[in-house]
Amino acid sequence: RERLSHLSSVEDALNLLRTSKRIIILSGAGISTSCGIPDFRSSTGLYAQLQDEGRYELDDPQQMFDIRYFRERPEVFYSFAKQIYPSNFVPSPCHRWIKMLEDRGQLLRNYTQNIDTLENLAGVTKVLQCHGSFSTASCLRCKTRVPGPTIEPYIMAQKVPYCGACREARDQEIEARRKQREAAKKSKGKGKARAWGNGDDDDDEDSDESEWGGGEPGIIKPDITFFGQALDSEFDECLFKDREEVDLLLIIGTSLKVAPVSEVLTHIPHSVPQIFINLTPVHHVQPDICLLGDADSIVTYLSSQLGWTIPPPPVVLH
Ligand code: OAD
Repeated sequence: RERLSHLSSVEDALNLLRTSKRIIILSGAGISTSCGIPDFRSSTGLYAQLQDEGRYELDDPQQMFDIRYFRERPEVFYSFAKQIYPSNFVPSPCHRWIKMLEDRGQLLRNYTQNIDTLENLAGVTKVLQCHGSFSTASCLRCKTRVPGPTIEPYIMAQKVPYCGACREARDQEIEARRKQREAAKKSKGKGKARAWGNGDDDDDEDSDESEWGGGEPGIIKPDITFFGQALDSEFDECLFKDREEVDLLLIIGTSLKVAPVSEVLTHIPHSVPQIFINLTPVHHVQPDICLLGDADSIVTYLSSQLGWTIPPPPVVLH
């Protein structure tokens, strides 16, 4: 990144913000901590909390979001999901700052790793929820997708939701097999009656359940991306397009520890300047400008220097 080594100061950041027209914002949990949502990897973050609580008996706190573990023990995730379910949170100054950049016509796209949907609540439309959200949920077995609110009562009751579509298919299959068997019995009975005249029927009664293609209806999982699951193809499609257009990359409130989102930095041409705003330094990347501190305070300061006004929080009726 030698070409941009002249960039390092707040003044450079202000100039870039003033002149850039197609900004990519890559955001993470650090922009929602001021809303009362813990991040993942800080000492007070979700993973430390899961470790300390110890009540879920996880080998590693990340297991809570691991697809293999979820398939084996969905009840563990559902006993916890309530804690991370988006509820009455209000967007932070950072979310509103992103909205302001969009309104100013400077935002190419916000790639967020957050599942709290606070970008939507702030009114940001050019947002890609890279790790999905609770707004939809899908059956792991038949892939039927349902609106998120369908499983909300289960999340609140800490129960595992099973797929209605699978259940229906199972019931239909069981019914079809029952009818088939009855028809077979009838015709066999007639045959026997003709042959021996007694109509005896000594067939084994198979259990209907055992004939269903296998096991219970599928488990429904919110469409948030777990470790071991691929990101939606929209992520690659957007990045492929945006990398040709972007003129500034702003990274806010993320430890950049989780691929493939963390790899966005390497997919963007080296000539595109990068500004990193975070509470703590991240040593495995070398952005052109690092602004360390509370993200809300930093974007508020930058805006005041630029004469820009961050919009107020939306009025939300609960
Ligand atoms: P992390 O918890 O890994 O990182 C959050 C970063 O935000 C840390 O570096 C904090 O220092 C910083 N931070 C916290 N509060 C801040 C504040 N007020 N101002 C500025 N910075 C602040 O969270 P992510 O990087 O978002 O994925 O984590 C990425 C992914 O890992 C998540 O989407 C989640 C997780 O496992 C899945 O669950 C699939």
